[in-house]
Amino acid sequence: MDTFDDLDSNVRYYCRKWPAVFASSHGSTLVDEDGNEYLDFFAGAGALSYGHNNPLFVEVAVEHLRAGRLLHSLDTYTPEKRDFLEAVNRHVLLPRQMDMVIQTVGPTGATCVEAALQLAQRVTGHRAVVGFDGGYHGMTYRAASVSASMSGRATSSHLKDFVALPYVENVVDADLKLLERTLRSEVNGQRIGAVIIEPTQGEGGARAFDPVYLGALRTIARELGVLVIADEIQAGVGRTGPFFSFESSSLDPDIVCISKSISGLGLPMAINLVRRDLDAWEPGEFTGTFRGNNLAFATSAKMLDIYWSDAELEKGTELHGLTVRTALEEIASDFGDGRFVVRGNGLLCGLEVSDTQLATRIAAAAFKRRLIVETCGVGDTTIKLLPPLVIAEEELADGLVRLADAVAEACSLR
Ligand SMILES: Cc1ncc(COP(=O)(O)O)c(C=O)c1O
Repeated sequence: MDTFDDLDSNVRYYCRKWPAVFASSHGSTLVDEDGNEYLDFFAGAGALSYGHNNPLFVEVAVEHLRAGRLLHSLDTYTPEKRDFLEAVNRHVLLPRQMDMVIQTVGPTGATCVEAALQLAQRVTGHRAVVGFDGGYHGMTYRAASVSASMSGRATSSHLKDFVALPYVENVVDADLKLLERTLRSEVNGQRIGAVIIEPTQGEGGARAFDPVYLGALRTIARELGVLVIADEIQAGVGRTGPFFSFESSSLDPDIVCISKSISGLGLPMAINLVRRDLDAWEPGEFTGTFRGNNLAFATSAKMLDIYWSDAELEKGTELHGLTVRTALEEIASDFGDGRFVVRGNGLLCGLEVSDTQLATRIAAAAFKRRLIVETCGVGDTTIKLLPPLVIAEEELADGLVRLADAVAEACSLR
């Protein structure tokens, strides 16, 4: 560890919670350099929904490298990019009747958000943005500016043309009135051009918005000419069951941000889906050297073909999600004294324990049992569970037993 202590920046974070040197990985398992195995309910912050080193995609990648295919392609045309665009169209856009184009941005989630906000401003002529308490959209200046209330990640100064609305779990009339009033208002002298929302919040605490609210947001925003940007960077690509986490509502966003698991193999990759009639970019107006990760195009096309040509994965995730929910409800009733709340859907689940120190102790006790879980939520009071979607039933059950033990230990120290 000395090398890390000596040379790695003080900003390092996850390694402090999980002080092991991870040397290899497969499926839902991480292996440290001493050969200890850990069950991974963190999955690269949601970037490894299809498991570590999924052999289907490793094979594609190895073949790609052996054959001397392009690795870096900017936005030039390649066969891999063509296959990828066609796969997104075939498995994502056409089945949902989404008339959208695909903008490759690169290579992180925050870049999607920057591009989406910039395009919304360009199309509407309005700069101000509405977001939500607990929303997290990345660490670049503007993405951080539209991320509300996230402790520990706040930058010292933010752009001022942003306003946050409360998260809405069960919509009431007053929420809709506030939404409409806010979308009609001005912030810092600027009219509202866009609303950015994670239909299911990840860092904000595995919190799903009321689908009725999402539908109403669609209607009100459209009436007022405000664009809706759905940030599906963490909750999308099947994390909550369906490909998009908003599919249980009538929300049809104008722009959808996708990153994290879209490559299938955990490679850096980010895209925006943009309503065709809003694709107002001039050629080259939004660029970036790493927009064309050609290796990721190849693995992503394979991922979409394998996992999204039928409903098997979606059903499996919903079943796994029920298993997790049942276990969390049992934990809540055994240890929560009525204060724990089970959150999320599919395999983006959380146990809100309403106490930062307790959440931290639970995550640490889980690590002792070689289970990797992270804390999230406003004030870091929620244990977040993000197992790979392809996890085996026995592994899921095993991890949930380890979690229950960890909660028991952490609660006994109260
Ligand atoms: C919902 C959401 N949006 C945006 C981001 C930022 O993505 P990146 O860290 O790749 O910039 C994240 C990262 O956790 C996220 O969860």
